[in-house]
Amino acid sequence: MKQFYDKLVKTRHYLHQHPELSGQEYETTAFLKRYLQDLEIKILDSGLETGLIAEIGQGEPVIALRADIDALPILEQTGLPYASQNPGVMHACGHDFHQASLLGAAELLKAMEEDLQGTIRLIFQPAEETSQGASQVLATGLLDDVAAIIGFHNMPQLKAGQMALKAGAMMAGVEKFKVTVEGVSSHAARPDLGVDTVLTLTSMIQSLQALVSRTVSPFEPVVVSVTHIEAGATWNVLPQNGFFEGTIRCFNSDLQKRLKADFIRIVEHTAENFGAKVAIVWDQTPPVTYNDPELSELIFKNSQNIGELLPAQPSSAGEDFAFYQEKIPGVFAFIGSNGAADAPDLHHDNMTIDDAAFQVSVPYYVENALFLLQHYKK
Ligand code: NI
Repeated sequence: MKQFYDKLVKTRHYLHQHPELSGQEYETTAFLKRYLQDLEIKILDSGLETGLIAEIGQGEPVIALRADIDALPILEQTGLPYASQNPGVMHACGHDFHQASLLGAAELLKAMEEDLQGTIRLIFQPAEETSQGASQVLATGLLDDVAAIIGFHNMPQLKAGQMALKAGAMMAGVEKFKVTVEGVSSHAARPDLGVDTVLTLTSMIQSLQALVSRTVSPFEPVVVSVTHIEAGATWNVLPQNGFFEGTIRCFNSDLQKRLKADFIRIVEHTAENFGAKVAIVWDQTPPVTYNDPELSELIFKNSQNIGELLPAQPSSAGEDFAFYQEKIPGVFAFIGSNGAADAPDLHHDNMTIDDAAFQVSVPYYVENALFLLQHYKK
């Protein structure tokens, strides 16, 4: 097995040196394709521009294993011998580790192909960071016959050898909003002749802060953050236009829908009060990463021997794996990748992965894929 893991480490380091941004993972896709072809693994005709879907075995049930493959627009500062050779682009979320883990799992599962009762579909997903990739994969139709899907994210707060899991909400549902207001410009000395864009914007932001503090149970974790506001250019003119943007995070999809509706109502009514025009743009962002309760319990039991298994603390980051879970029962785990008290977090320019984490990530895929084939057998 030492040889096997050494090869994976080398593979990850190569991928780490050649990161590509979301939707531009052309070289990465070509690399994955060659790697899988060398293992004689069948690559499906997905029509994806980047990313790929492959499979091992045949017939029902079909179990999907997912890894994301994109990197971030960050200038790497790790000083590692295998640091990024693509300046300004870095695998700072550890997706190099995710995809190398799935390649490792693919190799082991391929060696057992004769004995597999069903199909393992391997999803190398593009564009996770922009929340576009999972929808692209779902649109191929190649997940329509999938009985269950599993995935994971590396977790710098946990040590290599540890993994964490929980039923229900694992990562936040995310909304990203931008609110644009159009008032009527006037001299600062004659606000009565205009419609005050600045006052409209700030009144909206003020009222939105009451959403969480006055309409949501104190036992429910929710965040509404306005992070960016712009309006005006000087001291003696009331501007015509302005905007603010930010995010809503929560762990309950019904509440997320309700908050979004209330948000729209508050913003529109405030604009109306002041006589301003308003437009709201919502980006595509992931819903709550929700681990199927029954399946999580089974995966939890089946993962006892893989590593030190802990109950997970949910993360208020978002993860587009959630789009799969809207259609297919799925489980998403956290796998320890550092564990030092001062470990740089995900998306940090100094973020690193302890390669010993492969000893958990590969068996997590393999053992649970085999278990799920048995579980869903007709
Ligand atoms: Ni990530």
